[in-house]
Amino acid sequence: MTSILRRRLLGAAAALPLARQVLAQDLSLTPACGPQAALTPRQTEGPFYTPDTPQRGSLVEPGAKAERLVLSGRVVSPQCRPVAKALLDFWHCDENGEYDNVGFRYRGHLYADAEGRFRLETIFPAIYPGRARHIHVKVQAPGRRILTTQLYFPGDARDGLWRPELVVAMERRPQARMAAFQFIVDA
Ligand SMILES: [Fe+2]
Repeated sequence: MTSILRRRLLGAAAALPLARQVLAQDLSLTPACGPQAALTPRQTEGPFYTPDTPQRGSLVEPGAKAERLVLSGRVVSPQCRPVAKALLDFWHCDENGEYDNVGFRYRGHLYADAEGRFRLETIFPAIYPGRARHIHVKVQAPGRRILTTQLYFPGDARDGLWRPELVVAMERRPQARMAAFQFIVDA
């Protein structure tokens, strides 16, 4: 492809709403599945989980000024089989490091597609006092046990819960931070 055409296409992509872009697809997923794969580690739910969250692919609040985060990835078995329709329920603190324990700000669930892929738009959460920056998530293959864990960001090992196996791949792009993660679950 000529560089001019490529630039035009990239320009067109930039004009699309963020929701329609798949910018994280070329980020490598971490960790990898395969013969030596370990299941994604479980971690504490913490004190702020709220059940019955709304189903939605974007948690961005109207008028939110915080930097956007697009988290995408896959849910697979240790043998790399995609987990179609896996449930992913996310929650994290807002731009001030606070959780909404009354409503559903920065809380929501979605389902992976037939290839086990998911995509969530949200904000880059602030740091909750005393913790590494994190996103809580529950992942459930259909009919299986729920995996409750937390995702972390590169170079942010500021507490004892941060684990390299739970760190997303991340790249900062003009419109958003793009993050990718592969959940490996018993399915
Ligand atoms: Fe938390």
